[in-house]
Amino acid sequence: MRRYYERYIDNLEQIQKLMQFRPERGLTEERMVMEIRDNARQRHEICCENDRLLERILFKREPGELDGQDIEELSEFADRLFLKEDVLDTGIAHYIHRLLLERARQMQDRDLYIRELYQAGFTLLHVKPIVLHREVRNPFRDQITAYFEEGASYLDQYDEIEDEQTRNFILRCCEKRDEKEYLYVFPQERRRWWEDEDVNSEREAFEKYVLRGILTYHPPTYVHSRMVAWIGEKLCRRMAEIMPGKMAGTMGLTDAEAVRQAEEMLVRCVYEGGLCHDLGKSLVLNYIGLYGRKLLDEEFACVKLHTVLGSALLRDAGYEPLAQIALHHHQWTDQKGGYPYPCDPCPEEYRLLVDIVSVADSMDAATDNIGRSYASAKTFGKLVEELHEGAGTRYREEVVSLFDDGDFCREMEQELILRRQQIYCEIYSMTPQDGGFDGGYTGDPWGEEEAAV
Ligand SMILES: [Fe+2]
Ligand SMILES: [Fe+2]
Repeated sequence: MRRYYERYIDNLEQIQKLMQFRPERGLTEERMVMEIRDNARQRHEICCENDRLLERILFKREPGELDGQDIEELSEFADRLFLKEDVLDTGIAHYIHRLLLERARQMQDRDLYIRELYQAGFTLLHVKPIVLHREVRNPFRDQITAYFEEGASYLDQYDEIEDEQTRNFILRCCEKRDEKEYLYVFPQERRRWWEDEDVNSEREAFEKYVLRGILTYHPPTYVHSRMVAWIGEKLCRRMAEIMPGKMAGTMGLTDAEAVRQAEEMLVRCVYEGGLCHDLGKSLVLNYIGLYGRKLLDEEFACVKLHTVLGSALLRDAGYEPLAQIALHHHQWTDQKGGYPYPCDPCPEEYRLLVDIVSVADSMDAATDNIGRSYASAKTFGKLVEELHEGAGTRYREEVVSLFDDGDFCREMEQELILRRQQIYCEIYSMTPQDGGFDGGYTGDPWGEEEAAV
């Protein structure tokens, strides 16, 4: 098995290198897009190989089959994935420790069991959770506490244990158990973004601040957020033009005339909602495998928290409609599917705004064939077909009905492609000095999930 472990790690290093990719300066937009797409394709292929490797070296293995050599090799593999200075894959390292813990339990190997309790807890501890006003807890906190408390409970047997290392693991579990809080608390004051910005308004400052934050944490979400904002704006404007009466009830607007008068406000709201809908993702990046492999179940559960976390951030900042969009954008319009679940229904006055962003979200995620789900990207026509299939359940019927107009579809499709190319080229041309990303994480573990209509 050793060579497969080596291969997995080589692949991770290869992906890291590919993430450093920046196109040469002076290339045409077309050429640049080709190179960005090619880079994403190479990363995707390596990730697929790593997913296959994981099946073989880990997911299909039962603790009962592991012999002494397997245990030793797996421990080494976990150490390579999770070194303090160079963390390659926390999720898989934790998975291995859990497997070894189970094996130690079966074999009644006390020393191995104690070591694995500490290692499993310590791996999760590395994940830096962010808690907003203590409303949202570290999803791993109870697990961490359980590992360390159980490890510390062996203190009773400390004197009978001969192995020095095992005794140390018990002491370390005691220390960690007493640390109590494994939390990093997000600043609680409402930040006055617009005070130190060279901008004309609070709104402008907000947009700059949010986009800069997203770009720093995660460039693919930056492209996606700008696209969703742009698509959402188009859909909202079109609706206000051709069916303003259907928008009555939104934001307290009583009838078609009121909607017409407030068109700019509605469009602005949807646009900003698009920019911020995935803001919470920047807070969950710590929890997940960063190099594009398939997410583990526990990681996927963390990803789902981006709705709640983003919404809490926006509510703190005083942007209630945007908080509602962030919270509900993965929920079905009929409230019978999606997440977060359980969750109070979206207040009626914001429902349409959420539904517009939700369509825009799927539209971008499913059709991005440059840097995201390029392997499974859908054509615009196929996506529209699927929107129709989900009309009334997953998606709001009125929003989907905008795509009954062939001219509107053609215009959207063409502009969508051009717009996406521009944004990709823009961020890949930026240097860190321009405020661009600095070779950070460009993998996209949730692209496929979001694209699933
Ligand atoms: Fe999302
Ligand atoms: Fe999204």
